[in-house]
Amino acid sequence: MNDFVFSNSTKVYFGKNQLQNLPKEIKAYGDKVLLVYGGGSIKRMGLYDKVMQTLKEAGIEVYELAGIEPNPRHTSVNAGAKICRENGIQSVLGIGGGSCIDASKAIAAAACYEGDVWDLVEGKAPVESALAVFAMPTMASTGSEMDKGAVISNIERNEKKSLSCELIRPKASFLDPTNTFSVSAYQTACGGFDIMSHFLEMNYFTKDENYALQKGVIESILRTLVKYIPEAIENPNSYEARSNLLWAASWALNSFCTSGMKQAPSCHRMEHELSAFYDLTHGLGLAILYPKWMEYLLDKDETVAQDFADFGVRVFGLEESTNAKDGAVKSIEAMKKFLYEDLGLKSTLGACQIDDAKFDAMAENACGPNGINGYRSLDEEDVKAIYRMCL
Ligand code: NZQ
Ligand code: ZN
Repeated sequence: MNDFVFSNSTKVYFGKNQLQNLPKEIKAYGDKVLLVYGGGSIKRMGLYDKVMQTLKEAGIEVYELAGIEPNPRHTSVNAGAKICRENGIQSVLGIGGGSCIDASKAIAAAACYEGDVWDLVEGKAPVESALAVFAMPTMASTGSEMDKGAVISNIERNEKKSLSCELIRPKASFLDPTNTFSVSAYQTACGGFDIMSHFLEMNYFTKDENYALQKGVIESILRTLVKYIPEAIENPNSYEARSNLLWAASWALNSFCTSGMKQAPSCHRMEHELSAFYDLTHGLGLAILYPKWMEYLLDKDETVAQDFADFGVRVFGLEESTNAKDGAVKSIEAMKKFLYEDLGLKSTLGACQIDDAKFDAMAENACGPNGINGYRSLDEEDVKAIYRMCL
């Protein structure tokens, strides 16, 4: 293993009866908070009323920013930062999916900067300070509640980029599985595969060797996800299924499984272009890309075959194959069946009304100046070929 420093400072309150702990966490930073949420799911499920009552009873002054979009826009972040600056707010509470939590993190940083948040996202200006961030995820997906990243979209420029900085990692996150009961079957599937893909491409299919501990943990988590994503779709109010998914989501990017590894995603780089150009749901884009990326690599470079074959045996419970390539093909087929039959996700870009018109620009952006140097290196021609396979 490489040398590493492990640190994750987010305090996690997990379970059904943790809301009473929210005021004391917020009050440690001040008595004014900006509540950031999306298109109304938190009101429909009754969570908004409960949170407002809890905060108000504790004497916390609550400001609000509603309407955060899936794939949150930098313009919404700027609007939130302005509210914070004008009212001397000390902390930001994001309640919702990864989009609301990401927006909250970016608001927390932008509130301490006079210009446009896009300067911070692009690295034109450093994040020098940030308000305190608190998160209450209402779906199991991105892991934003325990990581230091925020993914923000600039729709006018067809750009979607990450802001990553220790200052925006949530101080405390509140993970109540019952808050995820109302997530639709479609979003459960998309969020569920997002979690799987975080483990697979950041921590599992990597060039790094000698990480038996992390890889064993990841295989166990992946098997858990393969069991519980369909169960949560089948029985949305299953506390057992929802709690396993929610905790797995946080583990994916909380730094434990990546300790010492070089994180180098491939499909995430390609997917962010789909969201940037077509506002596609993140987990759906990944589900379309992932099996095609595996097929492309296997065709180009058979050294991946054994890893892919092992994955099918250890995660999907396939029989061992005598030939690594056969095993790899069977693994990819098992993944396709899981995604497109068991979870019911679309399998092509064509089914999402996406054609090849923007592939050149998307591949250029995905690769940047240095290409994608993940599990296997990809250049623009590789990326375009994978996009074409998805049509
Ligand atoms: O807006 P509302 O009404 O809340 O509805 C949302 C939204 O329409 C709905 N939803 C959330 N919780 C619900 C619910 N509906 C019913 N009941 C509930 N309990 O779900 C829809 C999608 O929400 P969104 O926040 O967009 O989903 P997700 O959590 O998948 O977040 C996706 C965003 O996170 C970024 C993605 O790129 C995308 O922008 N990512 C962030 C990462 C990070 N911070 O580390 C890493 C990821 O790889 C990812 O890139
Ligand atoms: Zn993701």
